[in-house]
Amino acid sequence: MFDIYTLVEALWLIIPAYAANGLVPVVRKFGKTHPIDGGRKFIDNRPLLGPGKSWEGLILACVVGALIGTFLMFVQPLLPWDLSPVQLDIVPMSPVLGLLLGLGAMIFDSIGSFIKRRLKLKRGQIAPLLDQEDFLIGSLLFASLLVSIKLDWWIWLLVITPIIHLPASVVAYWLKVKREPW
Ligand code: CTP
Ligand code: MG
Repeated sequence: MFDIYTLVEALWLIIPAYAANGLVPVVRKFGKTHPIDGGRKFIDNRPLLGPGKSWEGLILACVVGALIGTFLMFVQPLLPWDLSPVQLDIVPMSPVLGLLLGLGAMIFDSIGSFIKRRLKLKRGQIAPLLDQEDFLIGSLLFASLLVSIKLDWWIWLLVITPIIHLPASVVAYWLKVKREPW
C-alpha cells in the first residue's frame, strides 16, 4: 500500500543513490575533470553529453554508493525497525546494491544530459523533472537487478525526489558545491 511504511522502505533503499548523486558535484573541487564524451559532438553538432558529465564523477558516485551501502549493511541490524506497528519490508543493503544504485544514477544522469543537449539546453541549464528524475530512474532500474522493487516505492520516490532535490540543491549552491541552485 502507498502509505508511510512504504515511504520508509523506499527511503531506506534510495539513501546510497541520494548520497552518490548529491556528492558528485564536489569532484570540481579536486581540479580538472575528464569529460565522458571526450568533447565529442553528436550529429546535430552539439555536445554529446557536455562537460558536466565526467569520468571522475561517475567513479565517485560508484565509490560513494558502495561505501554507503556497506555502512547501511552494518547499521541495518541495529536500527529499531520493530517500533513500526506493521512489518516493514526493508531491503538487505550491501556494497553491491550501493554500487548499482550509484552506477545506475550516473548512467541515467548522462542519458538526461544527452536529452538536454538534443533540446539545445547548455550544461547546467534547468530541465524541470528531467534533472531530478533521471538519476532516480537509473538507480531503481539498476537496483532491480538485485532486489525486487515495489510499485509503491517507485511512485513514492518519483513524487518526493523532486521535492527533496530542490532545497538540497539550494543548500549545495550556498556551500559553493553546485554551480546552479537547481
Ligand atoms: N558531475 C560530474 N560527472 C558526472 C555527473 C556530474 O563531474 N558524471 C559534476 C559536474 O561538475 C556537474 C555537477 O556534478 O556540473 C552537477 O551535476 P549535474 O547537475 O547533473 O550536471 P550539470 O552541470 O547540470 O550538466 P547537465 O546540464 O548536463 O545536466
Ligand atoms: Mg544540473
